[in-house]
Amino acid sequence: MKYFIANWKARKTYAQSIHWIHQFYHLLEQNTRVQAALENKEISVIICPAAPFLISLEQQREHTLGIYWGVQDISFKTEGSYTGEIPATMYQDIAHYAIIGHSERRNYFSETELLIKTKIALAIQAQLQPILCIRSPDDIFYPEVPMVAYEHTNAIGTGNNVPVEEVLNFKSQLSLTTSHKFIYGGSVTGQNSNIYLDTDQIDGLLIGGASLDPNTFFTLVAQFVAKRP
Ligand code: PGA
Repeated sequence: MKYFIANWKARKTYAQSIHWIHQFYHLLEQNTRVQAALENKEISVIICPAAPFLISLEQQREHTLGIYWGVQDISFKTEGSYTGEIPATMYQDIAHYAIIGHSERRNYFSETELLIKTKIALAIQAQLQPILCIRSPDDIFYPEVPMVAYEHTNAIGTGNNVPVEEVLNFKSQLSLTTSHKFIYGGSVTGQNSNIYLDTDQIDGLLIGGASLDPNTFFTLVAQFVAKRP
């Protein structure tokens, strides 16, 4: 199983988000190989839009097998008097995954390890699968997370994707079990995606810029599926 995680970040209006979903399904309707790969659990697509649009986007979903919603962050608080916060429990019937500790949250919003550890626990309690992002060996790997994404800050949005050998070297420094899923993210494009996906050491990709256009994202997924026997 390979995971394709689309992280739109703080981008797209409501109309643009709806358009993305419609275009993605339009492309999917025409591609029976991608449909079969989703249904046979060869691939899984996780779409992480802006939180306010999740419900409306869910209502546009035509085909559910193998396509899931993720959130880009959750609050470190539970339900309560926390103005402006969105606790994990509010997503639990809609989303399946929660990105936690993305480098942009660590770098711009001063997220600490304590906060990240708290968010992981709250996500798991709310039945959201955490996707823990780690920038370097200095960030803590929490073994209870099922999915860990290696995202070096210098590789994000810069065009400087990390060579696959370095990604695998980083992976070897984590104490992963066979049940952990290991994801790579950072300047993934349709030109370099298969370099990562060709190794069975990497279970999927976390894709920012190349997920913003539904055609680009779908092509990246479809070209992986087309290569399979
Ligand atoms: P990028 O972003 O693909 O635009 O580099 C990846 C990420 O930050 O998740």
